[in-house]
Amino acid sequence: MIRTAVVAAVAGHLPPRVVTNHDLALRFDTTDEWIRTRTGIARRHHVDPGTTTSDLAVQAGRRALENAGEEQVDLVVVATTTPDRPCPATAPTVATKLGLTGVAAYDVSAVCTGFLYALHAAAAAVQVGSARRALVIGAETFSTLLDPADRTTGVIFGDGAGAVLLRAGERGEPGSLESMHLGSDGTMADLITVRGGRGDAAPDDPYFRMQGTPVFMAAVRHMAQSTRSVLNDVGWSVEDVDHLIGHQANTRILRAVAEKLNLPPQRALVNIDRVGNTAAASIPLAMADGHSTGRLRKGERVVLTAFGGGATWGAAALTWPDLPAL
Ligand code: COA
Repeated sequence: MIRTAVVAAVAGHLPPRVVTNHDLALRFDTTDEWIRTRTGIARRHHVDPGTTTSDLAVQAGRRALENAGEEQVDLVVVATTTPDRPCPATAPTVATKLGLTGVAAYDVSAVCTGFLYALHAAAAAVQVGSARRALVIGAETFSTLLDPADRTTGVIFGDGAGAVLLRAGERGEPGSLESMHLGSDGTMADLITVRGGRGDAAPDDPYFRMQGTPVFMAAVRHMAQSTRSVLNDVGWSVEDVDHLIGHQANTRILRAVAEKLNLPPQRALVNIDRVGNTAAASIPLAMADGHSTGRLRKGERVVLTAFGGGATWGAAALTWPDLPAL
């Protein structure tokens, strides 16, 4: 038997305040039509002042534990670009709010690829036997990073959290993570950035900055390449993939990745229309959405893939687990 990490539960949480394209058209020089056709987004959720990333993470994490009927885990990993504080990490706060004081807990920072990096770390802990169960949470309050004068980023990002519970299991059983691939390229650090770091040239700019067109192109290239890497690794062909759960950055990006892979576009799961780009929360929210709507079924072959700041990218191949209906 080869020990591996198996998905035991998925869950999502969105803050209650819905922000529609029409709401944004009152704030920016933009239109519902531009946002829908250029990004695929119709609405997103934003936190109200006072709600933090750990608040969202706890809601998603609690729901994942409840769905699996579990109370205890050995590890909590939180992927976020918007930690409650620059120091310390958010994960220990999340663990304690979940009643898990004492367990290992740390943050992972890889922007929109953050969830896959966190999944990789948690799966490795399960594989080497240092954790029997691990809670992996992607959580963001990205709305708090946006420049109120920047219409491009202002219409794209949303807030939310998604959680996946991993347990130790056997390679090949439904839900098992069969392969992961991660990569990075620091020469692209300026494409997606919040300056103001201690070594930075523009310390006075507190806002998130993005160069949309090069990000678009690099995202398509790397998400397609990462997907191919994990497919090669597990010996699946593109036709074997039932669902591609890509980071929800833009429906045009998701379609372009599918096209580059020769995958029928309807196999690329889309929920960005309702949540926007939620960065590290994007993939687990899409997994939870696909499960709750009955789209993802036991034994189906799924590839997760993302591209994000750093630049970072990655992919994971798994079979869909047998999860209780939500
Ligand atoms: N409303 C109306 N017009 C807008 C706009 C908005 N919200 N945002 C930008 N525009 C304008 C631009 O100013 C530009 O005007 P110009 O031609 O007069 O200069 C025009 O629309 C086209 O801009 P362009 O950047 O070429 O559009 P695009 O088709 O590349 O779409 C993005 C822009 C940002 C939607 C797209 O590049 C994208 O999705 N990039 C990836 C972003 C991403 O996912 N980042 C997260 C990390 S993975």
